[in-house]
Amino acid sequence: MERRRIEFKDVSFSYEAGQKVLDRITFSLQGNESIGLIGANGVGKSTLLKLMVGLCPVTEGEIWIDGLAVTEKNLPGIREKTGYVFQDSDSQLFMTTVFEDVAFAPRNYGLGEEEVKKRVETALEMVHISHLREKQIYKMSGGEKKLVTIATVLSMKPSLMLLDEPTVALDPGNRSNLISLLNGFTFPKIITSHDLDMIWDTCERTILLYDGKIQRDGDTREILQDRELLEDCGLRLPLRFAEAEGVRPSPA
Ligand SMILES: Nc1ncnc2c1ncn2[C@@H]1O[C@H](COP(=O)(O)OP(=O)(O)OP(=O)(O)O)[C@@H](O)[C@H]1O
Ligand SMILES: [Mg+2]
Repeated sequence: MERRRIEFKDVSFSYEAGQKVLDRITFSLQGNESIGLIGANGVGKSTLLKLMVGLCPVTEGEIWIDGLAVTEKNLPGIREKTGYVFQDSDSQLFMTTVFEDVAFAPRNYGLGEEEVKKRVETALEMVHISHLREKQIYKMSGGEKKLVTIATVLSMKPSLMLLDEPTVALDPGNRSNLISLLNGFTFPKIITSHDLDMIWDTCERTILLYDGKIQRDGDTREILQDRELLEDCGLRLPLRFAEAEGVRPSPA
């Protein structure tokens, strides 16, 4: 049987007393699965990812990553292997230039300067932004910043990736490069997105959240074609099906 890489056991979370954002979430990820985590605005997708890397405290239930419980003591080990791309790029980038930001984590983990340079160059090439190497972060566009955040994670050669809305602000070329990149990785991923077409293209399994709970956990092909289920949970069919049915996507 394939090893469990991630386990959530009865995890609940509230930011404010009496208002549960996540309610008894239980699932596990085996082997190298990719899971699409979907649901309406405010349903708790980002919160679920933040719990895994200690940006929100695990107060009820248990989360395990590669046999390590997510606790204060285990966080350094968990963060070293887990590449986490924030929903908000400005919260992730804090150095002056692209090079410095992408080099930050490998340097912090004590790698030599030659290796750091190699890691940065490879990560920038992977997301097609080598030309932005010396650019100052505050002068960059939203999409460029998104690509830098992805590079900051790749430079650590993660063995697990959590991506929160990775395609937001990306143009079609960068979006399809990212999809190919994600499909080329052999480690597990959890990807949250409202870009259900990207979820269709990258994740064999989908978890649909609604009202703090897992409403459905299963085959992406089934869940993302179930119009009634999606609409009941505040979502719509992926554009590829909406267009096929002649339904015009509603204006953003
Ligand atoms: N720091 C915070 N303090 C209080 N409430 C918060 C905080 N962060 C998030 N929330 C609330 O928790 C709920 C879940 O937020 P979360 O960001 O996890 O949603 P999401 O599913 O990622 O939404 P989106 O699709 O908009 O990104 C929301 O109602 C949000 O207002
Ligand atoms: Mg979110």
